[in-house]
Amino acid sequence: MIHKRIDKKIQQAFIHKLFLWHAQVDRKLPWVGIKDPYRIWISEVILQQTRVEQGLSYYLNFIKHFPDIYALAGADIDMVLSLWQGLGYYSRARNLHETAKQITQQYGGKVPLHYSELIKLKGIGPYSAAAISSFAADEPKAVVDGNVVRVLARIFGITNPYKEKAGRNLFFETAQQLLDKNNPGKYNQAVMDFGALQCVPKNPNCRVCTFHRICHAYQNNQVMQFPSAKARAQLKNRYLNFFWIEYRNKMLIEKRCDKDIWKGLYQFPLIETNAVFSFEELLKSPLAKVLFLSKMSLKGPGWIKKQKLSHQEIHFTIYHLSASGNIYRRLEEKYISVAVSDLALYSLPSTLAFYHNFSLSSKK
Ligand code: ADE
Repeated sequence: MIHKRIDKKIQQAFIHKLFLWHAQVDRKLPWVGIKDPYRIWISEVILQQTRVEQGLSYYLNFIKHFPDIYALAGADIDMVLSLWQGLGYYSRARNLHETAKQITQQYGGKVPLHYSELIKLKGIGPYSAAAISSFAADEPKAVVDGNVVRVLARIFGITNPYKEKAGRNLFFETAQQLLDKNNPGKYNQAVMDFGALQCVPKNPNCRVCTFHRICHAYQNNQVMQFPSAKARAQLKNRYLNFFWIEYRNKMLIEKRCDKDIWKGLYQFPLIETNAVFSFEELLKSPLAKVLFLSKMSLKGPGWIKKQKLSHQEIHFTIYHLSASGNIYRRLEEKYISVAVSDLALYSLPSTLAFYHNFSLSSKK
């Protein structure tokens, strides 16, 4: 399918049914119905890759610490990252902070209201620009996110995968044609809520759906075949071997500075390998010598966990070691030494934070 022209009558019927459905939904969320573009921006960035149930407490906490753009722009990036801890996709937090600084310096502290200005800012793509401009200024720009793609694909039978250019264009065009140009903010909120609450990815209750008589996917018994997905690009495997090195209730950490995942977060000393390595094999690597690993005592087998990120699968192994005073002091020159009880003050990738909590609870 290359083109989908939506008839005016169909558009009006779609909007009418959507608004009737939405009027019955009572989801009181703090970012709904507000006009402050700063708060709308924060909420949309948090909600981009996060479910509302998880994002809500992060949003409230973020706004409590940074109630306006000046508070965010003036904050330390470590503080911003620490409030983001657990949400993942940390580049979102770094972009928010950088863009907040830019807005205070170049836009007099006013978050732009128009799509054409918003889209120029770092971290603001077509989705966020449409959301902010429609919610804050009623600019007629349709949002297209995962929820909207699912709703449009099912109801209008769009078979193209969104991940491909032709599909992307088709979803944007269809969404823009359906948009209620007189009430774009209200419409965008309703269609996103419809995707999140009624037209859900798994086992939607189609029999009660207001669109079931016209829904292409339902009428053809193909609800679960929509939206079409292109095979996911193969995830890159990475093998990260971390060392919790302890001496007298202190331990070593370092900050991740490279242009890589988790930039700006803290981690335990690390050896990355290209496959699973045993502890004995790790001892042969040059970094193991720098870390004096062979001179430490290993407190047990490695703790193993896998974590999928958007493009990578991370294979964690965490070893718990105790070092002598001599060796620990030498390592303090290269790493940051912190009290084990203070580790929670540092922003860690979620699996390392989980391991920390897990080892605290197993000590009790
Ligand atoms: N997901 C992304 N933006 C949203 C919004 N404004 N309301 C509900 N869910 C959302």
